[in-house]
Amino acid sequence: MKASTAKPLVMILGGPNLGRLGQREPEIYGSTTWEELGSLCEKWGDELGLRVEFNQDDFEGGLVGLIHKATDHADGLIINAAAYTHTSVAIRDAVASMDKPIIELHLTNPTAREEFRQTNLLTGVVGAGVFGFGIKGYQLALEGMASLLEI
Ligand code: DQA
Repeated sequence: MKASTAKPLVMILGGPNLGRLGQREPEIYGSTTWEELGSLCEKWGDELGLRVEFNQDDFEGGLVGLIHKATDHADGLIINAAAYTHTSVAIRDAVASMDKPIIELHLTNPTAREEFRQTNLLTGVVGAGVFGFGIKGYQLALEGMASLLEI
């Protein structure tokens, strides 16, 4: 049993170009902006008894730093590493070193897309994944996280 009544903290982390959500290829990624998604995630988290910290960085090193921050301070991580999913050993290594629940998320299903998206360096080091549900995936991932954290 937990000594404190503080709500578990979940960090939601977005990689490059996700800050442009809403304007960026809306026919693929939808019309909701990253800021609007952040507000929705806070609401969905609150309904589940989770605190949500919502962050985005276009740079690999910035994302690595935020994963370290999640490792040290959060109870779980939901990560959409965007294009770095397919290329970054540094992000994979940072994720692999986090010994708390991690859910990989993609708005689309990268496996059903271009050849260069078939390489995924993260799937092998995360416990669970949510792909292809658009922004609804964030609500599903938060529900999954609540289950993993047993709240
Ligand atoms: C994405 C899929 C990636 O292949 C792509 O580079 C993105 C977004 C998604 O959420 O569907 O930027 O992670």
